[in-house]
Amino acid sequence: MFTTEYLDLPPLASAGGSVTLPGSKSISNRVLLLSALSGGTTTLHDLLDSDDTRVMLDALRALGCGVTTQGTTTVIVGLGGELPAGPARRLFMGNAGTAMRPLTAALAVLGGDFELSGVPRMHERPIGDLVDALRQLGCAIDYLGQPGFPPLRIGRPRLALGAPIQVRGDVSSQFLTALLMALPLVAARDLVIEVTGELISKPYIEITLNLLARFGIEVRRDGWQRFTIPAGSRYRSPGAIHVEADASSASYFIALGALAAPTPGQPGVRIEGVGADSIQGDIRFIDAARQMGAQVRSGANWIEVSGPAVAAGVPARLRAIDLDCNHIPDAAMTLAVMALYADGPSTLRNIASWRVKETDRIAAMAAELRRLGAQVDEGADFLRVHPPVRWAAARIHTYDDHRMAMCFALAAFNPAGLPVRIEDPKCVAKTFPDYFEALFSVAQAPSDAIPVICIDGPTASGKGTLASELAHRLGYHYLDSGALYRLTALDARRAGLELDTAHEEAIAARARVLPLRFAGDKVFLAAVDVSEAIRTEAAGMDASRVSVLPRVRSALTALQLGFRRLPGLVADGRDMGTVIFPGAPLKVYLTASAARRAERRYKQLISKGFPAILDSLRADLEMRDARDSSRSVAPLKPAEDALLLDNSDLNIAQSIDRVLQWWQGKQPFGAGPSG
Ligand code: DC
Repeated sequence: MFTTEYLDLPPLASAGGSVTLPGSKSISNRVLLLSALSGGTTTLHDLLDSDDTRVMLDALRALGCGVTTQGTTTVIVGLGGELPAGPARRLFMGNAGTAMRPLTAALAVLGGDFELSGVPRMHERPIGDLVDALRQLGCAIDYLGQPGFPPLRIGRPRLALGAPIQVRGDVSSQFLTALLMALPLVAARDLVIEVTGELISKPYIEITLNLLARFGIEVRRDGWQRFTIPAGSRYRSPGAIHVEADASSASYFIALGALAAPTPGQPGVRIEGVGADSIQGDIRFIDAARQMGAQVRSGANWIEVSGPAVAAGVPARLRAIDLDCNHIPDAAMTLAVMALYADGPSTLRNIASWRVKETDRIAAMAAELRRLGAQVDEGADFLRVHPPVRWAAARIHTYDDHRMAMCFALAAFNPAGLPVRIEDPKCVAKTFPDYFEALFSVAQAPSDAIPVICIDGPTASGKGTLASELAHRLGYHYLDSGALYRLTALDARRAGLELDTAHEEAIAARARVLPLRFAGDKVFLAAVDVSEAIRTEAAGMDASRVSVLPRVRSALTALQLGFRRLPGLVADGRDMGTVIFPGAPLKVYLTASAARRAERRYKQLISKGFPAILDSLRADLEMRDARDSSRSVAPLKPAEDALLLDNSDLNIAQSIDRVLQWWQGKQPFGAGPSG
């Protein structure tokens, strides 16, 4: 998962391959609550693990449910429709509407002493219609802030179950879902819910009804106006439930298959975990994508997508659409971004509910599409997108809205070949923590379009610290090429080889198939953790010895090139800029005086508990500098186009800032904060 302030996506060229998507948020949070309200044990397979489900799980634990997770299986020991008595409980709902609304209803009918709050945006998301409906039933609910919005206090109800309960259906379908899930807890008699106003997002109600049936509740429905929970209804755990992959998350990959050129040799983008027969309403996104020209095939639990048929060798553009999107409110955001690639203006209608989601999605979508160069018309409940005449390199503001981040990543396929900056990319954790990793597993860019920052320099110049921190900030991969030479030398030593020319071929042969594995900060050679062993001074000296052997160097070349993967790479070493990545857009030659470097290495070793003598460290590193710089193959020297950074008098933060400034200066986004 990315933890950076922004993520720059280089221009992407094609897509193909297979991706497995995480579980549906809507199903996950519903089955969690239903399992908690049922008696006994429910085993949930492939539950989504994200911010919103964590919010629900934390709340259920606080209410006394048993929760255990092992791998992709979560076991819930339910409460059997009764809350254990306890002191006042404060439950934090983050920004999860799918937790806030149903829990409010369930707790309000069961009664107790609760406070439900969330992040500031949650306190701007309406809940008044649900509270009004629950108050008709005799529930005790108070607003702790603004009337009509969380936070809420819930007390003990005096239930009056005679009359039908009225609830508005035209703001959020979650209010009706919340009542449908709460009322079976108190269904001593037939309970009737009447919807006022046109019910929006009906497919989400279908998910609710479908899952209620799995938990033993057969709701009677008259059209979309009247729902009856039969007297005597009681939750019964189905024992086990498999959660489908999230159909809204699938929309990004369906769009990807539709709008990106196919990767040669791949039939398209294949999505595992959900099929066209899904119970999730957003699966109907497939129909909209088809209208735009996507070719979609599907079977049980899979979908395969490719773009419009190629006519006369020319790939057709997506077709513009004019669509009522009320039935796919979340996935319709993806259509807005697909519209950038269409052959004319597209109109998305009946999307007023966008205004009360994680952010005002109509305003947000319009603003960010405009940054890319599109002309956008926006109304109370519609959006019209005219594809850009001229694309612009844009910094996309994401409004703490996971779907903004996810759908705008698709703009990186723009025909102008411009990068796209996604601000606050970690907001995808709400529903799809590994979204970008999944995207990069099926999207391709030509290798030379994947950015590389090279940090070369002599030993102990601070390359490793600088490069790994830069990689972290940018969300890029990190290559510590010195570690490869250190591993090669260690491996050769352990095989009993002398590190000299006589053994060059034997060492190179082993280097070509080094059984190495990087895991976080650790490095393994076969199954052995050698993270410490390769960091000693002796291991560094050995690395310097094997690194003069030309065949060893070339044996390690392919391995190093393999680190150039989306979305980018920061590589440190001696010849990153001169030999391995000569076309890299930024090369830094990092150095510091020998005295400073010896001093730093001394402190580093002492702090790790290794013995060290300052003078001999300095002599050793001067000897290594001499060998690394004088060898015939790939000697240590600045690339012609490298920027020199002498960090003798800079601390780490200053060095990082300097290089980041250089890097920003090379981006097409312009300086300063987003406007
Ligand atoms: O950066 P380091 O101290 O981990 O590197 C160990 C040795 O490996 C260094 O003395 C020379 C060699 N090396 C190299 O020749 N080329 C690189 N790209 C990286 C390291």
